[in-house]
Parts: sequence; C-alpha cells; structure tokens
Amino acid sequence: MTTDRTRRVEDLLAVPSFAPPADFREKALVNDESLYQQAAADRLGFWAEQARTLHWDQPFTRVLDDSNPPFYRWFDDGRLNASYNCLDRHVAAGLGDRVAYYWHGEEGEERAVTYGGLLADVQRFANALKDLGVRKGDVVGIYLPMVPEVVVAMLACARIGAVHNVVFGGYAPEAVRDRMQVSGAKVLVTSDGARRKGRVSTVKDNLDGVLGEVESLEKVVVVRVTGSTVAMRPDRDVWFHEVCAAADPVCPAEPVEAEHPLFILYSSGSTGKPKGILHTTGGYLTGVSYTHRLVFDLHPETDVYWCTADVGWITGHSYVVYGPLANGTTSVLFEGAPDYPHKGIWWELVERYRVTTFYTAPTAIRACMRWGAELPARHDLSSLRLLGSVGEPINPKAWTWYHVVIGGERCPIVDTWWQTETGAIMIAPLPGVVSTKPGSATRPLPGISADLVPGDEGDDSGLLVLTEPWPSMLRTLYGDDDRYVRTYFSRGARTYLAGDAARRDEDGYYWVLGRVDDVINVSGHRLSTAEVESALVSHPEVAEAAVVARPDELTGQAIVAFVTLRGGAEPSDELQTDLRDHVAARIGKLARPAQVVWADELPKTRSGKIVRRLLRDVAEGRELGDVTTLGDAGVLDRLRSQLANTG
Ligand code: WTA
Repeated sequence: MTTDRTRRVEDLLAVPSFAPPADFREKALVNDESLYQQAAADRLGFWAEQARTLHWDQPFTRVLDDSNPPFYRWFDDGRLNASYNCLDRHVAAGLGDRVAYYWHGEEGEERAVTYGGLLADVQRFANALKDLGVRKGDVVGIYLPMVPEVVVAMLACARIGAVHNVVFGGYAPEAVRDRMQVSGAKVLVTSDGARRKGRVSTVKDNLDGVLGEVESLEKVVVVRVTGSTVAMRPDRDVWFHEVCAAADPVCPAEPVEAEHPLFILYSSGSTGKPKGILHTTGGYLTGVSYTHRLVFDLHPETDVYWCTADVGWITGHSYVVYGPLANGTTSVLFEGAPDYPHKGIWWELVERYRVTTFYTAPTAIRACMRWGAELPARHDLSSLRLLGSVGEPINPKAWTWYHVVIGGERCPIVDTWWQTETGAIMIAPLPGVVSTKPGSATRPLPGISADLVPGDEGDDSGLLVLTEPWPSMLRTLYGDDDRYVRTYFSRGARTYLAGDAARRDEDGYYWVLGRVDDVINVSGHRLSTAEVESALVSHPEVAEAAVVARPDELTGQAIVAFVTLRGGAEPSDELQTDLRDHVAARIGKLARPAQVVWADELPKTRSGKIVRRLLRDVAEGRELGDVTTLGDAGVLDRLRSQLANTG
C-alpha cells in the first residue's frame, strides 16, 4: 500500500496541473469566475460587500480614503468590535453551543470550548484587564503556549479596544523584553510554564530576570498551565484565574473606529530591529473573514478546520483566531509538536476530530514525508476534503506527497501566499474554480492586484508587488512611519513591494521564488540575518559575524554563520556549540545556526562592506560570482577550506 503510494507520487510529479475535482466543485461556495469579474469591475464595491458580512455598530459610508498614500484608511467612518464579531453575534444567532475549538493537550487532555463558553471567559478577562488599569489603546503583551487562554487574552483585548502584541512562545525572554519595551506594553499575559515534547519550561521564572527592564510594564498576569511553582511579586503579578474570578461576568464589547489598532505583531525585516507591524480593526477583519471563508471553502455547519500554526505568528492570528471565529468555524487547537507523543499524532487527531480542512507549512509536510507514508496510512483520513499550505514555496515533490498520501487525491491543495504585512491571503486558488499547479500559489484573489516589477537579477523573474491597497494591509510600522514608507513603497506610494521575487507563467500564475532582502525563512519562520548577527557579536569571544542562508531539504533554509573571533580566542567544538546556544538564548531556538564557520577574515569590498552574495556562494559550494569588488580575493579560498573542515 505505501509503496504503491510512493510510486503514485513519482508518477504524478509529471502532471503539470490539477483541476478542481467535479464533486468538490459542485458543492463549493464559488465555482465560477464571476467573483473575479465582479471584483475587477468594481473593486471598492466588492470590498464593501465583503466588509458588510461583518456586524457594524455604525455602518461605514466611505470604503477607502486614499488621499494620503501609502497611509490608507478603510471603512473609516464605521464602528465595530472584533470580539463581538467573533463571539457575540454567533451566540445571538443561537450558536452558543457550537464548538469553537477542540483543544487537545500534549498529554492527550481534551477541552471542547464552545462559542458561549469563550464569550463568558472573554468577558471576565476583559473586565479583569480593565480592573488592572488597561484602557482603550493601551498595549498588552501576550506570551503564552497554545492553550485556549491565548485566544481569550487576544479577544479580551479586542473587546475593550486594547492593542495586543503577541510574542511567539518559542522566542527567548530577551526577545520578549525588547518587544515589550518598544511597544510600551502596560500589561503582559504569560504562563507559569509551558510544555514541549514532555518537558516543562519555567516561563514566568525565565521572564523575571528581564521584565524589570520594561519601564512601561505595570502588571503581569500569569495563567496556570503546568502547575510549576512561581515566585509572584505582590505589587506586579496576579493569577489569571484569580482576576477572572473576581471580575464582573458582563463586559459589553466596545465599538471602536474601523481604523482603531487591533494588534501589533513584530516580524523580521532587513535590519536587526524587528518591525512592529500594525493592523487595524475593520479592514483586517474583512480580509481574514473573506479569505478564510472562500480560500478554505468554509461550510461552518459541517467543517472541522485545523490550522497547525502557532498563535504567535500571523498565520495563527488570522487563521487560528480571527478568520475562523469571525466565520463561526469549529477548529482544532493543538498544544503540541507534530512528533510528540509520536510522529503520527497529527493524523490521529485528524481521524479523532474528523477534520475536513487542514492547513500547514511545507516544512512540516517534508518532515512527515521523511517519517514515512506508513504513519498517516494507519489512520482514517477520509474526512479531509481540502488541504492548505503556507509559509514558503512548496516543492512539487512535497506537494504531490501531500496530495496523494494525505489528501487521497480527492482534496484540492490551496497554496497560499501572503505575509505578516498583508494580514490575509493574497495569492491562492479559490479551490472550486482554479486549477492548481504544484509549486505555484496560482492567481491573486478577487479584489487583489498583483504584478511583477523588474528587479536587478536580470532574468525572467521580477519583484512581486501589490498595485492596489487592500483592506487587511498593514497600516504602518508601529512608531516608525518613515520606515514603513521606505521599506515597502520605494517604488511609489501605490506599489507595495513584498520583498519576494517571483515568476509569472503563461496562465498568469505566480511562482514565488523567495525573499530578495536579508530575511531568511527557516521552517517557515521569518528571521533577519542582522538579528542573528547581532546576537552573535554580543558574545564576548566574537569580533565579527556574517550570516547567510543555504537551502535545506527539511527546513527550506538553514542558517550558516561566518564568525571571526577576537584576538586570543581559539576555535573549538565547544565554542561552536556555545555560540549556537548563545543565539538560541538571545532570540529563540528557531534562530540557532545550523553551522558555524570560523573565518579569519570576511570578504569585504574596499570600502569595508561585507559581501554576503559571495558568502552565500561559499556556503552553497557554488562557483563564485563577481569578486572584482573585493579588497582581498584570497579571503574566499581560505574560507572555503575552513568550511570544508567544519563540515
Ligand atoms: C514566504 C507568513 C511562497 C514569502 C504567512 C513571504 C511564501 C514570507 C508563501 C512571509 C507561499 C509565505 N509560497 N512563499 N505560499 N507563504 N511565503 O510574514 O517569502 O511569516 O514574504 O508570513 O513567507 O512570512 P510571514
């Protein structure tokens, strides 16, 4: 059986495109081109119609204010509340008993969280936040593992107009500190500990060492997750369950202006300083609910949807929390890792909850491929009807494996291209309409205008741009309007530069090739080379560091660090491990370099700039590009022999 499937994967690799299966198409929400035509004929009218699927406390009369590009305002005389749209309106429609999340813990614990239950919890915590002094517009940090309380905390902020700033649980305490400092967070919601593959980490204790440096921080709310003992500071720290128990159970949702900030999410850019990407309420919610409904062909009465992303990333914000809840979806929320307690756990859960729609990242699919088709074959995956992919280009082999082994050749695959900045999916097939081609995200969604502009590579690829504003776009970089304009609009205020290179084929399909800036993508996680470099040079033995990415079969890209040591320091295996751990401790494990190469010198131009292009050539073992700008061309030969020695 599994060898048959492997052979089938090989055979299908030759198939260039897959039409939507007839029975899928028949039942799909959209199965013809009319939506594309409608959006093309009247883009703003189309978006207004999407926005009106939400509940507005005060309807908007103006769709787009583009009088001050690239600072766009959408639906700006309307008022609404995101938490009301995610909860109250479903409960009011009689859906209070519908499950919002089947939460599944690492050790197999289960909790079914209904819309009614979630609404009750959110109201209490919203009041608790108010009791702690949080007001509309204040920033609340959230640093939690994948437990239902992370959703409660986000929606409680939205309910009272506070702005959440979620930090992925895999980031190190120092990264949390930085993000709290730059956003001026008043409260941080965290946990006593977190479980990861059977091990418990002491989250709160780890944070205590750095939180004193965040001057704006007044209160720390601690969710009891692991039962670890924690030292509570009486003047600052409170227990989540205690403040909720003491709070009034009723907290009406506060309607806010459509352009009121909903959240900040820090993401990596070209420099070491993370970018605080700011999203606002009306446009963001319009974008995520529209795309979640149509890209995932949502049938909320019958679907069970599972997006495996962590809530700490944009995919979690848009497609675990806001999109699914705005649409009244039943989702799976899984605390754990894909290989704990065993490597077939995802497929066990698909069978257990009868998951219909499954959305994950190529790196995870490649890991599952490695673990073998026998593991999914042990489970009944016949409930699945649609699969999704996000985070990086998916290689045709992984696509085809996903299609055959997980999708049983009946499920369309939606490869979704988008970014933290875009808020919602931009390029992806509508699965009842668009034929898919393995490796291509296909066409821009109705309402989205993409194009390519010439880059400096001089081949047939170009820079991917979005040529019209869209409702869920970022509004600015928090506190740094100049950087927003500089980073994304250097080709004009109507041309959003995504930072990706892409090709477009004869059918108008986009093939995203990867980043053109110093952003690297490890297992679908965005990191900047400068961020890793600055962590390295903060180590006492390091004089200079240059970080590049090389392709990796499993993680997409892997980090290679070229390191020059200070006088007196000697390269050793211990120091190599120490440097890798140092980066993990400063940023998080996701940033740990795969390889450290000792460099006596780094290749530099005569004016002293490190030439990364050449380091990439060295890391990938390629022929060297143009070396004429180098001050000393011999540097590269020496580096190559050092690379060979470090394996
Ligand atoms: C990459 C994640 C190819 C791309 C939602 C983008 C993709 C960056 C795809 C954004 C895809 C994301 N095909 N590349 N389907 N999806 N990317 O902000 O380089 O974490 O610019 O958002 O991931 O990463 P971010």
